[in-house]
Amino acid sequence: MKILIIGSGGREHALVWKISQSPLVKKIYCAPGNAGISEIAENVNIESTDITGLIEFAIKNSIDFTVVGPELPLTLGIVNEFEKRGLKIFGPSKEAAEIEGSKVFAKYMMKKYKIPTAKYESFNSQKDAKDYVSKIGVPVVIKADGLAAGKGVIICNTIEEAVRAIDSIMVEKLFGSAGNKVIIEEYLKGEEASFMVFSDGEDILPIASAQDHKQIYDGDRGPNTGGMGAYSPAPVITDSIAKEIIDTIIRPLISGMKKEGKTYKGILYAGLMIVNDSPFVLEFNCRFGDPETQPILMRMKSDIVPVMLSVVEGRLKGKEIQWSNEPSVCVVMAAGGYPDKYEKGKEIKGLDEAKKIENLVVFHAGTSILIPPHPPLAKGEKGGFKVVTNGGRVLGVTSLGTNFEDAINRAYKGVGLIKWDGAYYRRDIGRKAIPISRKSVKIST
Ligand code: AMP
Ligand code: GLY
Repeated sequence: MKILIIGSGGREHALVWKISQSPLVKKIYCAPGNAGISEIAENVNIESTDITGLIEFAIKNSIDFTVVGPELPLTLGIVNEFEKRGLKIFGPSKEAAEIEGSKVFAKYMMKKYKIPTAKYESFNSQKDAKDYVSKIGVPVVIKADGLAAGKGVIICNTIEEAVRAIDSIMVEKLFGSAGNKVIIEEYLKGEEASFMVFSDGEDILPIASAQDHKQIYDGDRGPNTGGMGAYSPAPVITDSIAKEIIDTIIRPLISGMKKEGKTYKGILYAGLMIVNDSPFVLEFNCRFGDPETQPILMRMKSDIVPVMLSVVEGRLKGKEIQWSNEPSVCVVMAAGGYPDKYEKGKEIKGLDEAKKIENLVVFHAGTSILIPPHPPLAKGEKGGFKVVTNGGRVLGVTSLGTNFEDAINRAYKGVGLIKWDGAYYRRDIGRKAIPISRKSVKIST
């Protein structure tokens, strides 16, 4: 098969890496890809939101199957457009992707289908939003309705902070039109975890659990980011909590989407807060998590391609996935300044040394290849190229280990070998998992 993968982040590198191991696959293209992806796939210079360009490419190159990484093309309707032309594509339709594209819609679904989530109200007017905050008090969570690259959520511990947050989202439009409406919700205190399933609209197949590290600084402090690291499994998700997540969250949502005429095919990602052993939904995403996908796919022993095809073809029932018992840890290396302003174009060194570590993969996110200008080459002389930074989250150094300590040490050994000017990473990724994983609870895959 010829496969096209859409996107350019660490998640897409992990997908390309995993899909390239399938005996069913002959050739992989990635649009637009990154420096790491170009080592195993052919990068195509088309943006992930250029749906017309992607369709033309898929037709011209006889692509058999397209896999969409990021949420934006999904919410723009890439799946609907590909399917109209008879092209096979993995991901939810525009209507189904609204579960991530609009937090107001997601909350509506949760209320209607009695899915546990934080109490909330939604507002079109900043005055009503502020009045509501004064009424319910703090701590409180203010969320922009639309897509904001994981950054449109502000946790407020004082009324002044909440008023400022409402102003910045609704008046100053910090997240653009995503802030035309806000959701104000109750603050939940607990342990976060990510739970993803494959869904063919009818049946589901759970994926190994994972836990993300949203905040920029060690100890979960500072502003939220797209994710500074992740590990799998999430020991906080025991077998019995996994069952509760499936029964009270995943199945009601998938059957509810069908009832609403928005049949859900693809990956459904539930961002959860586990409060006193009970799961509550913080958000739904319509695609694989990033960086959770990196450690999860390191643990996946089965071929992913037949599973993805069975999602699209509605034959998921009875399918199984084999997982490694070894835990996996992914440490994100970011550009200094992220999630605010940061510089690009810094040369990355040490990638080849890190690659030599066993059971470690360096997934690229914001990287590109720079071919410096050089004088005409003498015969037999090779022109050099550099891998340079090209985004906020730059690399996801991901390892498997015999236990969490081993996986963490291995990942940080890789991180220690990689250098660029201004590189930043958290030093505590995965540490939270160690005490729970030592207890004698039955951890879900
Ligand atoms: P979201 O994009 O809705 O998942 O929110 C991003 C992050 O904000 C989550 O991963 C949590 O760390 C935090 N968060 C969101 N909603 C709540 C809530 N109701 N209570 C506590 N923290 C929250
Ligand atoms: N890591 C969080 C997300 O993918 O949304």
